[in-house]
Amino acid sequence: MIFDILTLFPEMFHSPLEHSILGKAREEGLIKVDLINIRDYAEGRHRVTDDYPYGGGKGMIMKPEPIIRGVKAIRSEDPGAWVILMTPQGISLNQGVAKRLVRLSHLVLICGRYEGVDERVRGLVDEEISIGDYVLTGGELAALVLIDMVSRLIPGVLGDEGAPEDDSFSQGLLEYPQYTRPREFEGRGVPEVLLSGDHQAIERWRRRETLRRTLQRRPDLLAKADLSREDMEILEELKESSGGG
Ligand code: ADE
Repeated sequence: MIFDILTLFPEMFHSPLEHSILGKAREEGLIKVDLINIRDYAEGRHRVTDDYPYGGGKGMIMKPEPIIRGVKAIRSEDPGAWVILMTPQGISLNQGVAKRLVRLSHLVLICGRYEGVDERVRGLVDEEISIGDYVLTGGELAALVLIDMVSRLIPGVLGDEGAPEDDSFSQGLLEYPQYTRPREFEGRGVPEVLLSGDHQAIERWRRRETLRRTLQRRPDLLAKADLSREDMEILEELKESSGGG
């Protein structure tokens, strides 16, 4: 997977992409991240990338030409590159969006700054993505979130360290509680079933805890989740036992 990042602040990407799982994925060639400075596509002695908004108002707007030139340069090499503008006005990023994007081979992420980008940039992108209903100082952190989410779904990236199928949200539900050693910590133990070696019992317990946790914390997710008849029965039981107090 190739990620091309169009940004005014390439340095913001260095540390997060150098370490841990993403660092290793880059070393192994599973992902390739190219940082492209939008300023390199700006013209004139001062290579200006922003300007005042027409009609007045506070803040600066990113000029269209440098961004559009950058995107055109990428598309001339790879017409199939999928171009995404990171903006709070986009569709909300979630696990489903990440699963769709991981099927593509070349993503281009445009990071806006200041008060936004000239509207004419919007006409040229394939989609706009937001990481949540809040405003960041720029699209860089949002792009990093997207790169992280998508990369860990690429086969081989997580290695032995995890399986994306078990994640919270991957089946539309929250993950069950996890424990490691010590067996007892400050008077708090580990559920007996996890020490039993009975894999079927452990699976049943985990499913129940997944349902319990989702019911308690994110009941909205249950309406959309793919639940079996047995899941529905467990949920009924959980509702009765909590409601009956
Ligand atoms: N740029 C600023 N805020 C953002 C957000 N919430 N998502 C994506 N890009 C952004």
